[in-house]
Amino acid sequence: MSAVDPIWKEIREDFPALSELTYLNSAATGPLPRPVTEAANRFYGELAKGGDTHWDAWRQRAEEVRAKVAAFVNAEADEIAFVPNTSTGMNIIVDLLGASGAVLSDELEFPSVTLPWIHRGIPVHVVPAIEGVLRIESFQAGYSPRAATIAISHVQFSNGCRQDLAAFGQIKSGRNLVVCGSQSLGAFPVDVKATDIDALATAGHKWLCAGYGAGFVYVSRRLIDAHPPRTVGWLSVEDPFSFDNRQVRLLPSARRFELGCPSFAPIFALGAAVEYLSKIGIERIAERVLYLNEYLTFRLQRKGLNVLSPGGENRSAQTLCEVPDPPAAAAFLREKGILVTPKPEGVRIATHFFNSEEEVESAVRALVEYVQVHSHP
Ligand SMILES: Cc1ncc(COP(=O)(O)O)c(C=O)c1O
Repeated sequence: MSAVDPIWKEIREDFPALSELTYLNSAATGPLPRPVTEAANRFYGELAKGGDTHWDAWRQRAEEVRAKVAAFVNAEADEIAFVPNTSTGMNIIVDLLGASGAVLSDELEFPSVTLPWIHRGIPVHVVPAIEGVLRIESFQAGYSPRAATIAISHVQFSNGCRQDLAAFGQIKSGRNLVVCGSQSLGAFPVDVKATDIDALATAGHKWLCAGYGAGFVYVSRRLIDAHPPRTVGWLSVEDPFSFDNRQVRLLPSARRFELGCPSFAPIFALGAAVEYLSKIGIERIAERVLYLNEYLTFRLQRKGLNVLSPGGENRSAQTLCEVPDPPAAAAFLREKGILVTPKPEGVRIATHFFNSEEEVESAVRALVEYVQVHSHP
């Protein structure tokens, strides 16, 4: 299956949203493929008909999802906890690592990567971007402010700048490496072991196409063993059904971070999404999204529009295109059924694997028209 294989056309039929919309907005929220909706609906059907008769089966199914999610990022199942969103995962990580000291992050970050540290009074040093690019040298020990932890997004929400996680793993030099995968997981492969990531938090509702509430956090075995969690619930312990009110015997796995009864529907949606993406193949998806992104960038530039996202090694599946009055531009496109996100400098266009060259063309046409209308009202 190559980046231009006809199979990509067939895949579109799995996404009901695509018959209604030109959906170039997975960087905000990904539409659901049918198997994901079916997994969540199946759970609600079982709950509606049987109450908690399926509790044991659901618990078992959740563990199967945990194993699939772990394989997706090359972690151990014991290192994965289900969380509703990035912010929850990041707070779990910060509770484990905050006492270690200052953090090195950067100015392109989405705030869920930085605020949980700042809120706890932990200094966060902000690396500047140079022409929209975060350079690995800026994070190198000796060239950057001293820090116990590097906290970065794999792909930046602001301009799509993609980092080479393997390079970060190589230069971390005794520091913890914490990664936000919300703008990359589902579009690009991540291997937490090969890249020496200590902890990773992600939402499920963007490129993973799993819907809201379907995030997860990876915490390496080393960190689980080294630091007790700040928060626990009744299911964080070894034998929850002994209902022991006198002592906390923590589970040895990342399940200790999950507070109370599981959110089964989003967990099953996440499992179906990871299975769906894995069947296509994450390497193939990465090839496809990069191809579509390059195609979009080329077409925009040919029409004289300015692309603010970095290319080359830092290219991702997001393109920030400079336009006057970005909210008006996004509204103009929306009128035509084309969904993108307004940003301060322009509109962010996200090309996921299910998007087509025709959709890219119609977005380019609409932007050209918008710029003409805007400059000669
Ligand atoms: C890099 C990044 N992290 C996290 C989020 C979302 O955070 P949360 O999952 O906590 O809502 C976004 C966008 O919404 C994002 O772009």
